Amino acid sequence: MPTAAMREAMARAELGDDVYGEDPTLNRLEARAAEVLGKEAALFFPSGTMANQASLHVLTRPGDVVLASRDCHILRYESGAAAALAGVQIQTLGEGGCFSAEEVLGALVPPDPHFAPVRVVAIENTHNDAGGRVFPYEELGRIATLARERGLRLHLDGARLMNAVVASGIPAAAWAAPFDTVSVCLSKGLGAPVGSVVGSSRALREELRRVRKRLGGGMRQAGMLGAAGLHALEHHVERLREDHAHAARLAAGLEGLGLRVEGKPETNIVMFHVPETLAFWKAAWEKGLRVNPPSGTRLRAVTHLDVTASDVEEALRRIASCLRR
Ligand SMILES: Cc1ncc(COP(=O)(O)O)c(C=O)c1O
Repeated sequence: MPTAAMREAMARAELGDDVYGEDPTLNRLEARAAEVLGKEAALFFPSGTMANQASLHVLTRPGDVVLASRDCHILRYESGAAAALAGVQIQTLGEGGCFSAEEVLGALVPPDPHFAPVRVVAIENTHNDAGGRVFPYEELGRIATLARERGLRLHLDGARLMNAVVASGIPAAAWAAPFDTVSVCLSKGLGAPVGSVVGSSRALREELRRVRKRLGGGMRQAGMLGAAGLHALEHHVERLREDHAHAARLAAGLEGLGLRVEGKPETNIVMFHVPETLAFWKAAWEKGLRVNPPSGTRLRAVTHLDVTASDVEEALRRIASCLRR
């Protein structure tokens, strides 16, 4: 949720019409985002989904193949947009949100009219479905080298890139360097009410602007949202460390209750398993515990700037009482 200070920044924002590129606050946000990502330019989007899908749109032609991780957001949680809008097919690789340069190599096809051309490699960092996992940086370098050699383009779904930055100590610009397009959410853990940015070259940004308009994402006095995003980038990145510590404590507490937790959380997402999952989830909801609806026996808990250390302890107490029912 936006904090009081963020709301104040939003209320004070100097505004213009961003469809004409005349909103000074939005322009400042885009300049700052480009600087953080080490890119020539950045463009604001109303959502991470639109940011990802517009990026795929400008990097591909209909019928192309995008290589991506198993259970990636662009395939699983964006309502079929890659097929419906860009007209591309996503082929998944690897396990646990990661894949290797060898797997990319194995998925390439000869220039034969039978095959759909592989055009893009997309990486999700951190990986939502893999429980907030940070992509191995060295492997990313190997994939990027291979992609360059083979003329492939690269997209980073960095909805939670800042979590990866804080967890790894590797700066955002270093993570972003090999990619043609990098989407980052200002909402989620960074606490802005709305918004994502895509960092890219200046030329790609102009193509992205056209696709954004076509998708209905050109907004007028968007500087109010830009002010929230700027505030998030200035004040809410370093504190992600606290969310990561809270996730680690939550995971340890869940294990202490005898529950299975998937891996050790690297960032702010905890994937855990509960028997009689649906009944547990309903009981948890009644007790004010917001965990994502189950998939199989699996539940997702996320820590963020509205969750304190004592909230984590209280959550564990409530989870224990749901298990006893
Ligand atoms: C990895 C990832 N990418 C993209 C998105 C999409 O963001 P939005 O919900 O703003 O469309 C999400 C949302 O949860 C996400 O987890």
